[in-house]
Amino acid sequence: MQRFTLPRDLYHGAGALEALKTFKGRKAVICVGGGSMKKFGFLDKAIGYLKEAGMEVMVIDGIEPDPSVETVMNGAAKMLEFGPDWIVAMGGGSPIDAAKAMWIKYEYPETTFEDMCKVFGLPHLRTKAKFCAVSSTSGTATEVTAFSIITDYNKGIKYPIADFEITPDVAIVDPELAFTMPKKLVAHTGMDAMTHAVEAYVSTANCDYTDPLAIHAIEMIMVDLVKSYNGDMEARARMHNAQCLAGQSFSNALLGIVHSMAHKTGAAFADYGAHIIHGAANAMYLPKVIAFNAKDPVAKKRYGVIADYMHLGGKNDDEKVALLIAFLRKMNDDLNIPHCIKNYGADSYPCEQGFVPEKVFLERLPEIAKNAIGDACTGSNPRIPTQHEMEELLKCCYYDLDVNF
Ligand SMILES: NC(=O)c1ccc[n+]([C@@H]2O[C@H](COP(=O)([O-])OP(=O)(O)OC[C@H]3O[C@@H](n4cnc5c(N)ncnc54)[C@H](O)[C@@H]3O)[C@@H](O)[C@H]2O)c1
Ligand SMILES: [Zn+2]
Repeated sequence: MQRFTLPRDLYHGAGALEALKTFKGRKAVICVGGGSMKKFGFLDKAIGYLKEAGMEVMVIDGIEPDPSVETVMNGAAKMLEFGPDWIVAMGGGSPIDAAKAMWIKYEYPETTFEDMCKVFGLPHLRTKAKFCAVSSTSGTATEVTAFSIITDYNKGIKYPIADFEITPDVAIVDPELAFTMPKKLVAHTGMDAMTHAVEAYVSTANCDYTDPLAIHAIEMIMVDLVKSYNGDMEARARMHNAQCLAGQSFSNALLGIVHSMAHKTGAAFADYGAHIIHGAANAMYLPKVIAFNAKDPVAKKRYGVIADYMHLGGKNDDEKVALLIAFLRKMNDDLNIPHCIKNYGADSYPCEQGFVPEKVFLERLPEIAKNAIGDACTGSNPRIPTQHEMEELLKCCYYDLDVNF
């Protein structure tokens, strides 16, 4: 038996934020990040709409990018004091993911972070509050997914919390929130969405319900992402939908080792002054993983189908896979994303020598590879890499080498 779960309601289109006016409840907490929602006026609008709905409103702000376990625990303590029956999370993947984890701790105060990380092992939520997610970036699709990514900075590791219990009750996909994204954020979140769709389509958990969402998302992202990056706001609005379709697919089909590797490298070199931003990591690793996975005959055929939908040409599946890889690499060039960690600067742009020194990378490689294999996204990848293969794959991602194993 397979399960396909999405939010019960999804409000989309310009002005969809107004749906908050229709919510029924007594008290709402709004969770936001570092200030963009306030700066661009969306926080005040949301507060106004919830008050119009007759609710008392509290704001938890300052949730940092790649939120920590501590942020989750502090936020949950505030929720326990306030007692909301609605949690409204607004912003990028970071505040929404943090709010999802706070929700678990709010409903079950005795839960530890380790308990939360037991894949599909959460108790029933919604005994105290319902959850609405309003996305302001066009990538993670966390407004519709069963996932939350929290970083344990003591270990330098991102942990996915995965359970349909944390699939929001309501998603609001209002393109007006995405119009203020700076170019770099458009690029990174957009390639995150492309990775979600491609990984979902070749995942071993794909099905008839998830395939059309993934394929349609890929077709949209290939047309609209670079345009959106270059300032076309109609394309920006379509990207906001495309990423959400990709999310609906991967929340149910799961992901693969591009994400395993991105989760385990993202904060692994934080002591050298930067993160490898989630979407940029995916963008660099996706072409390498496609080459690796294409050794599996079923996956190769599926990449061929993707290439066909993209009208990339190619006489056989080998040629189609090569054309797909070339297309994705060209997208990275168009979006000013490097091809490998060695050339990944602390500002995320391509450069001769990036912020991760070769020696440090090689020292940490065995541990990172082990952690990536153990990531929750590895199980649904079409090929399960050995420790040796994962190390080699990560080396290809560091030096931009061809994958021929
Ligand atoms: N839950 C999931 O299913 C899922 C999937 C993929 C990634 N993730 C996680 O999500 C996080 C990344 O989320 P993200 O890429 O959305 O970015 P983010 O939430 O980390 O935000 C990045 C920056 O962009 C700013 N920002 C957000 N929206 C803006 C807007 N509209 N205009 C101007 N600035 C804006 C924020 O203030 C922040 O400084 C990572 O922790 C990643 O691991 C989660
Ligand atoms: Zn992602």
